[in-house]
Amino acid sequence: MIYLDNAATSLNKPQVVIDAVIDAIQHSGNAGRGSSDSAMQASRSIFQARQSLNQLINGKDPRQIIFTHNATDSLNTVIKGLFKKGDHVITTVMEHNSVLRPLYELEENGLELTILDINSKGIIDPATVNNTIQSNTKGMVITHASNITGDINPIKEITQILHQHNLLGIVDASQTIGCIPIDVEALDIDVLCFTGHKSLLGPQGTGGIYVHPDVEIHPLKSGGTGIDTFSHHQPLDYPSRLEAGTLNSHGIAGLAAGVNYLIDYGVNKVRDYERNLLNIFYKELQSIPQIKFYGHFNPTVDRCGILSINLGDFDSAIVVEELIDRAEIITRGGGHCAPLMHEALGTKEQGVVRFSLSHYTKKEDLMVAVECLKDIQKDLSE
Ligand SMILES: Cc1ncc(COP(=O)(O)O)c(C=O)c1O
Repeated sequence: MIYLDNAATSLNKPQVVIDAVIDAIQHSGNAGRGSSDSAMQASRSIFQARQSLNQLINGKDPRQIIFTHNATDSLNTVIKGLFKKGDHVITTVMEHNSVLRPLYELEENGLELTILDINSKGIIDPATVNNTIQSNTKGMVITHASNITGDINPIKEITQILHQHNLLGIVDASQTIGCIPIDVEALDIDVLCFTGHKSLLGPQGTGGIYVHPDVEIHPLKSGGTGIDTFSHHQPLDYPSRLEAGTLNSHGIAGLAAGVNYLIDYGVNKVRDYERNLLNIFYKELQSIPQIKFYGHFNPTVDRCGILSINLGDFDSAIVVEELIDRAEIITRGGGHCAPLMHEALGTKEQGVVRFSLSHYTKKEDLMVAVECLKDIQKDLSE
């Protein structure tokens, strides 16, 4: 099998991740619940995971790392905990449904929403953000990179504009954390939402939020935290403020192992490796008649490890099936949970065939995919 669907989830995990999950399942008690050795081990391991993530993104304080089940959970918590009826929020056509659907839900209850279109380079132009701000604007939710094209948004320029107006910048880093270096301080990000099971190489069921200490998010859930038992309310200090109920300490142990692996290996190295492979792949694919590319390819500009194509007007789902049948190549067709981006790209009906890499992807695998696509193109055209 040639696995090229890492934007959906990374299937190949380092052995240290697997070992950490097994160890946690065998030894971890319930973090923050009691002082037994096993409960303390879980607490320590979770705090170390916060430290590793905080180091990876250059956050202000490990206690500002909140654990969730996935990016969808993070985004719902943040969006519903920050915005209410009467607020105006800006977002973009590049967003995943995990941003759009919570915002639509709030819109049905009186939130005002502006959705910005992409420019000719397939990303959000900061000037359009400036032009959209109104007196009730509270913030902007924006993806770091498109999950369809891999193109990266100019986050720093956008957060600078937002902060000139005292607005919050919330970034969905689901496709970039672990494969593109992220420094929340340098990028001036107020809230970063991420998932654990893609480029962070952690288990599914893990994700998180980084919240700048000055940002107050109203808890979406309330319940047990192991502290302040007799209070009627969720504690206000982070991370307990947004973490009700038993944490997934087994998954978090695996996630921490993935993050530590990346810190040692170097996210820069992952980015350079994937970008180099993508450039080779892009060049080789150009020889296929009627191939269509989506995204703005510039060999010197950062992009995450995604390349999406179509073969003429053939349905992306057919091409995806052919790749599996002919060479066991796993990609993803269809809508990728990003409906507005497909509308912007004109691929609502056809979808696109998305290839997504990891640092485990080999050049030979991509060459097999190129040859296979050539054959598919030829056979379908006959
Ligand atoms: C840009 C983006 N945001 C959010 C998500 C949702 O991630 P999860 O499935 O971990 O909730 C994804 C997953 O595909 C994504 O690509």
